[in-house]
Amino acid sequence: MTAAPRAATSSASHLELPDRAASIVDLVGHTPLLDVTALGLARSPRVRLYAKLEGFNPGGSVKDRAALWMVRDGLKTGKLHPGKTILDSTSGNTGIALAMIGAALGYPVTLVAPDNVSRERKRAMTAFGAELIFSSGMEGSDGAILLCRKLLAETPERFFKPDQYANPMNPQAHYESTGPEIWEATGGRVTHFVASIGTGGTIMGTGRYLKERNPAIQVVAAEPDDALHGLEGLKHMASSIVPPIYHEERLDRKVPVPTDAAYDLVYELGARSGVVVGQSSGAALCASRTLARELDDGVIVMIFPDFGDRYLSTNLWTGWSEWLKRHRRA
Ligand SMILES: Cc1ncc(COP(=O)(O)O)c(C=O)c1O
Repeated sequence: MTAAPRAATSSASHLELPDRAASIVDLVGHTPLLDVTALGLARSPRVRLYAKLEGFNPGGSVKDRAALWMVRDGLKTGKLHPGKTILDSTSGNTGIALAMIGAALGYPVTLVAPDNVSRERKRAMTAFGAELIFSSGMEGSDGAILLCRKLLAETPERFFKPDQYANPMNPQAHYESTGPEIWEATGGRVTHFVASIGTGGTIMGTGRYLKERNPAIQVVAAEPDDALHGLEGLKHMASSIVPPIYHEERLDRKVPVPTDAAYDLVYELGARSGVVVGQSSGAALCASRTLARELDDGVIVMIFPDFGDRYLSTNLWTGWSEWLKRHRRA
């Protein structure tokens, strides 16, 4: 069903969206900063907070950047060429981004996902024409990883596997796009950069760029406070296999985020700012609040990796009516 492969058209390293796009991949990046200072999280009026709304990427998340850079690099190095299929084991934002980019560039995409992944997710990936192969839901994401490895081992010549956890193009995407966009949008005034961590690509690449521009900028990770957490897409590094692209020693600080605090901030943001985001945005907001309560002045920029419509049927929203009751009483 996929058309003949096409070359990725733009370098996407320019800082503005084109008025007209030849391909959906030209619309990756260039996302806006939203001023969220009015939420009142800061102690001092001289602290400003901005959220970079990555949900405005065409595939709906920050992962469009990493996926595009990895695919482009595959094309450049010849690891991806006509006849090959893009293969990965992800049911999350990276899967959706790869499916979108594969469709746009004319490469078939096969994604391995646990069979209990939500209907919205299945639809989002298949809508882009990706083939979904299911692993046992009982085995979680590890089951999908193992099945993906097996498929690759059986016919390695058939596939291109981007491997976001080890691929240097993942942080490079943020070094070349997210970092310069934040620097430009704040006129170089950013003092703190906050991102939640999954593969670590966003924080490593953006942090490296910003520190090269100004070594005083503090790079702060929002991390789930416990191995068992409800912050989809994020890793509690101390209890996880640490991704090869992630170098904790390059961070200035990690702020532990309780799941319920992140969820509450998602509800608050939705009700008070008209922006419904996913739980990893709530985590970034929670860590930013910790900083904002400490600082006398500063410009905090955080990443909101996606919008909340991807999670409307998940546990994120089960506590919402309780929260509303509490806040109506308050
Ligand atoms: C929803 C969501 N938020 C945050 C992240 C973290 O981004 P990164 O992998 O760049 O650390 C991811 C991906 O892993 C994600 O899917």
